[in-house]
Amino acid sequence: MTNKEIKIAYTEYASLGELSEADRILAKSAIEATGSAYAPYSNFGVGAAVRLADGEIVKGSNQENAAYPSGLCAERTALFYASASRPDTPMLSLAIAATHNGKLLSDPVTPCGACRQVMAQYQIKSGCPMEVLLIGSEKIWKFDNVDSLLPFIFDSI
Ligand code: THU
Repeated sequence: MTNKEIKIAYTEYASLGELSEADRILAKSAIEATGSAYAPYSNFGVGAAVRLADGEIVKGSNQENAAYPSGLCAERTALFYASASRPDTPMLSLAIAATHNGKLLSDPVTPCGACRQVMAQYQIKSGCPMEVLLIGSEKIWKFDNVDSLLPFIFDSI
């Protein structure tokens, strides 16, 4: 028998000012993307921004629908759009921010399980680590790759 352990490392920043310029631009893009959320049921606006290997930033936001399961989270909107529009360009980094009734949350927003699975698979497709930045107004968390957020990804088919 062997006992094993997984440790998750991440960095906490106090404000956007502590980020590198590239991360700050991506974080601001995610915050900006919350403005295009269509969230009439939850009033919870989520914005996501993906930085591609050539520097392009692709944004997405949550889109709700009266037939509830038909809506989609911001992360998957951005990731699917990035893969559909730029299929051969690796995704290097993903930033996520959220507002409630228009106000940026103070704590970082953490992605749902389904989005983590999609993030993990696009990391594999990209062939390089995908950094993840979770943006709050009072703290920001940065993960070096998606594995930290979803160990043991389903990758068996
Ligand atoms: N939402 C996201 O866009 N991303 C997440 O990771 C969690 C939740 C959206 C879905 C729904 O439109 C609203 O937030 C409330 O759950």
